Amino acid sequence: IAFLFVFVTSFALNTGATSIPKTMPVKNVIVAIAMEAEAAPFIQHLQLKLVADFFPSNTPFQAYQGPHGDCTVTVITNGKDTVHETGVDNVGTVPAALATFLALQKLPDTDILINAGTCGGFRRKGAEIGNVFVVTGVAHHDRRIPIPDYVPYGIGKLDTSRHGDFTTAEVLALELEYKLGVCTTGNSLDKTEEDDKHMLANDAAVKDMEAAAIAWSCKLFDTPFLGLKVVTDIVDGEHPTQDEFLANLLAASQSLQVALPRVLDHICHVGVVKE
Ligand code: ADE
Repeated sequence: IAFLFVFVTSFALNTGATSIPKTMPVKNVIVAIAMEAEAAPFIQHLQLKLVADFFPSNTPFQAYQGPHGDCTVTVITNGKDTVHETGVDNVGTVPAALATFLALQKLPDTDILINAGTCGGFRRKGAEIGNVFVVTGVAHHDRRIPIPDYVPYGIGKLDTSRHGDFTTAEVLALELEYKLGVCTTGNSLDKTEEDDKHMLANDAAVKDMEAAAIAWSCKLFDTPFLGLKVVTDIVDGEHPTQDEFLANLLAASQSLQVALPRVLDHICHVGVVKE
């Protein structure tokens, strides 16, 4: 039934009286995943190969590439912290924006960039552990600049539900039965009471440490952004975030390994749909 729906939808969208294209074909996809543990099952599943010299040699970032159906998929990860020599994964907005920028500069023919990873979910928005969310918009919750002109810049809100006339979130979420919502980004895994107020104001369904920064880099290249987030912990729940996050990281990464090929199959087959 799902196949028939996809076939009929794509047929219906690609016919008609006008010659205006109704789908944006997708051939080249970058998947930005911050942590190695989040990316590993997917890289293995697609049997992607490490690309030497993809990033400048003084960066810690890694790239893995290979075919998936008719698409070429490049997964980028943020690598390990060599600057402070802690050896942990580079997480947060700075490595995310930089790795995304460099990858888009290297691959100018990229049709869409998917930011996939784990997130905290808000119970008040219907999020449950293991849920997959497609991101309709991004905003920061920890960039407070109380000077009037700088307030909206600090929040850095971007609508990621569409790219021009093309819907990048709703159609996909509907067909794959994923949830939809805004992702609020900050540089901390935990939160303060001040963060709480800003996350509420951002109308966030999920919370992460990269999406708004990655969407910003995509804007610089006018590349469509698609956020795909799996919930490891409940932000407005009763358990300490770090405990819940670590307990669910493996299961969430495996769930990402199931969700990502489904999303790739959809966008590489149907393209990104125009309303
Ligand atoms: N990634 C997974 N859970 C998160 C949370 N609660 N905040 C930020 N990033 C996360």
